[in-house]
Amino acid sequence: AVLGAREGDKLKDLAHNTKDISDKDRLTTDYGVKQATADDWLKVAGPDKAGPLLLEDPFARERIMRFDHERIPERVVHARGSGAFGKFKLFESIEDLTFAPILTDTSRETPVFVRFSTVLGSRGSADTVRDVRGFAVKFYTQEGNWDIVGNDIPVFFIQDAIKFPDVIHAGKPEPHNEVPQAQTAHNNFWDFQFNHTEATHMFMWGMSDRAIPRSFRMMQGFGVNTFTLINAKGERHFVKFIWTPELGVHSLVWDEALKLAGQDPDFHRKDLWEAIANGVYPKWKFGIQVVAEADEHKFDFDILDATKVWPEDLIPTRYIGELELNRNPDEFFTQVEQIAFCTSHVVPGIGFSDDPLLQGRNFSYFDTQLSRLGINFEELPINRPMCPVMNFNRDGAMRHTITRGTVNYWPNRFDACPPASHAEGAYVEYAQKVAGMKARIRNDKFKDHFSQAQLFWNSMSPVERQHIVNAFSFELDHCEDPVVYSRMVKRLADIDLTLAQTVAEMVGGEAPTEGRPNHGRKAPALSQLEFPGSKPT
Ligand code: HEM
Repeated sequence: AVLGAREGDKLKDLAHNTKDISDKDRLTTDYGVKQATADDWLKVAGPDKAGPLLLEDPFARERIMRFDHERIPERVVHARGSGAFGKFKLFESIEDLTFAPILTDTSRETPVFVRFSTVLGSRGSADTVRDVRGFAVKFYTQEGNWDIVGNDIPVFFIQDAIKFPDVIHAGKPEPHNEVPQAQTAHNNFWDFQFNHTEATHMFMWGMSDRAIPRSFRMMQGFGVNTFTLINAKGERHFVKFIWTPELGVHSLVWDEALKLAGQDPDFHRKDLWEAIANGVYPKWKFGIQVVAEADEHKFDFDILDATKVWPEDLIPTRYIGELELNRNPDEFFTQVEQIAFCTSHVVPGIGFSDDPLLQGRNFSYFDTQLSRLGINFEELPINRPMCPVMNFNRDGAMRHTITRGTVNYWPNRFDACPPASHAEGAYVEYAQKVAGMKARIRNDKFKDHFSQAQLFWNSMSPVERQHIVNAFSFELDHCEDPVVYSRMVKRLADIDLTLAQTVAEMVGGEAPTEGRPNHGRKAPALSQLEFPGSKPT
């Protein structure tokens, strides 16, 4: 595996760990001894019938015990997913913004693995439920792994990571009866949305057709959080990452989604698998939105607030690369299940921002992998970078690497494995000036929770608006607690009075008579994006 990795070829590295089953193989135990039978447990042979099973049978015990421990915990969120291998190709260098070779070297082809997922459902839940979709990309770059752990919706429910357990608890099935599974149609979900006004923009996206995609191949992907790019001159820019599918953005209609959830719960999983198996490789253009450091405070929203989009009429998207998925996994568990994404995985030339959601995510992913996969999760074939890994981390459950040598610490008398310099490609943190009091605060512009929810509603076509109204009616109709649905109807008047009144009529709540003024500001609809090479569908 290490040889493959040193040759800079992730696929060779994976192939080293991959075996095919053939008729030449003979059945063995995990410790390599050939087995004479897979059918009969060792027993006491009586005169006319077999007696009790013997615990001494190592073959039988290994088979049963290996099976008993096949399951690992499913992901605490995004448990249901599927994925594929592919490649990333840059077609325009952005060396004006970053020195990261993956974003400056147009001759490179970088191997990737992408995992798509729903958020709230368990591992066996249906694909077509109304939910956010994960869109997580691992780039195996020559400088180490870079993960963009994104969603198909550009904003999020919360501004500060400390709220994540609440938003997920409120959205997952209710704690007393685990009803409903993988749906937003319940009291706790809407109770939280009402009480937690910063979620307003996000739940508008959630009630739109974006939350019932036609296919993983027809979804956009967004890094959501604000990252930074650092160029060779040491200048820093804020950046958002965007994937736009070449097939265009398409959704199911709700009736289709409902029927498919029953008739074909693997609809999205199969669609992706079959497209790739048939050589119809899905492709996305890779875009960036960029704000210079000096312009950070120029907008009427805070660019570090993950509940806000950066409207494209103010900050256009520049498309610079392409992602293609072209190989299905060899084995689901060791690749799709064992892959571990971390927002904290960035490569030199890419950095974080003070986005308080991102900062918390940078803690959370590594932490959750420890209980899901164990401390040595980076050694699993799917997670191993394709460049050499050498350090003094040691031991722990399931350690695989055998490191020769007499030292496991730095500094050492041999000068073995010293830290790298910037010139040798070391990650060096951007020297950001930070000063202030220690306090639990939010920036002022974070307090606006409704403007962009209104912007979203205003930007919808009449058909899209009708679908949103229908979605609210369906979801709120499932909340049997009148306090929950009647307060939510009132909340909708903070977005648009007609929306609130129409939904009130459909769910039977009291119709509000006053709403927040709507000045009719629209944003360009993301689904109508044009970019070089886009095809009408
Ligand atoms: C998993 C996206 C916010 C914690 C995931 C996955 C995606 C994702 C795509 C699935 C990864 C996979 O396929 O393996 C996002 C986005 C967020 C967000 C776009 C908001 C911008 C958060 C926050 C936290 C969090 C705020 C915690 C503070 C987790 C955890 C997992 C996860 C614990 C499970 C990871 C695993 O077991 O592999 N997230 N997430 N996420 N996310 Fe997030």
